[in-house]
Amino acid sequence: MRHLMNPLDFTVEELDSLFDLANDIEHNMPKYAHACAGKKLATCFYEPSTRTRLSFEAAMLNLGGSVLGFSDANSSSASKGESVADTIRIISCYADICAIRHPKEGAPLVAAEHSGIPVINAGDGGHQHPTQTLTDLLTIRSLRGHLDHLTIGLCGDLKFGRTVHSLINALSRYEGMRFIFISPDELRIPDKNIPYEEVIRLEDTLPQLDILYMTRVQRERFFNEEDYIRLKDFYILNKKKLRHAPADMLVLHPLPRVNEISVDVDDDPRAVYFKQAQYGVYVRMALILTLLGLAGKEETKC
Ligand code: NCD
Repeated sequence: MRHLMNPLDFTVEELDSLFDLANDIEHNMPKYAHACAGKKLATCFYEPSTRTRLSFEAAMLNLGGSVLGFSDANSSSASKGESVADTIRIISCYADICAIRHPKEGAPLVAAEHSGIPVINAGDGGHQHPTQTLTDLLTIRSLRGHLDHLTIGLCGDLKFGRTVHSLINALSRYEGMRFIFISPDELRIPDKNIPYEEVIRLEDTLPQLDILYMTRVQRERFFNEEDYIRLKDFYILNKKKLRHAPADMLVLHPLPRVNEISVDVDDDPRAVYFKQAQYGVYVRMALILTLLGLAGKEETKC
């Protein structure tokens, strides 16, 4: 039995197969319509979510499976004091696979250790968000054609942003990657064991980038509101600033956005963050099939 806690749980070759499967799903949806018939996905969300939870649910429904779960810790027995370890033991009796999001770093790992079914980390505190990373990698690979020899600028809350932490881990395994971290001093990336450059100004950096990965300031992880208010609008990408960027640069954002990308950027062909959310469904379908051991068996189910 296999879990997904961190994007590094898959080798680069395994990721390639996963993305090939996701692209096949993208172009041949009906072929997969019954691939998970009779299977159930549990979504256990102890933290707010729109995209991650609903795209997991859409993914399982697209595969002909069913979904159950909770979207708020207060509506689960966590509010009565039940541990994650006990909850997952119970969920293992009801479902075949589980996606879990939790504000505490490492909670999905504890769940995996006590689980009878595959567990997927759907975000744990400021730590990791591996399925967002799979989404990001699939988006880049599908739209740029490759995942190596790219200059990527990651901009915004690099301290608390778990999507950034996971994405850097994953991309650092590809050859010729150049990382430029764009953040205010207070939101700098925690030390990384890879070569990188750090800058504060976005405008000066834009002309060098193949990919710009924007993130919101993570209000819920701040200790005080004043710091958040001071930093929240530090970066605002708008149409005017985008004039400095290469014509084929891609703008990604895990979403939700707050103010960091102005809506006048949305109709620029470089803005791919809504497409990115669609890739999130394909890659989660591919992941569910893979972790359930059903990849390659979809046609036998029809
Ligand atoms: C991200 C998250 O939850 O970390 N959202 C998402 O899953 N797409 C990013 C964020 O909340 O800023």
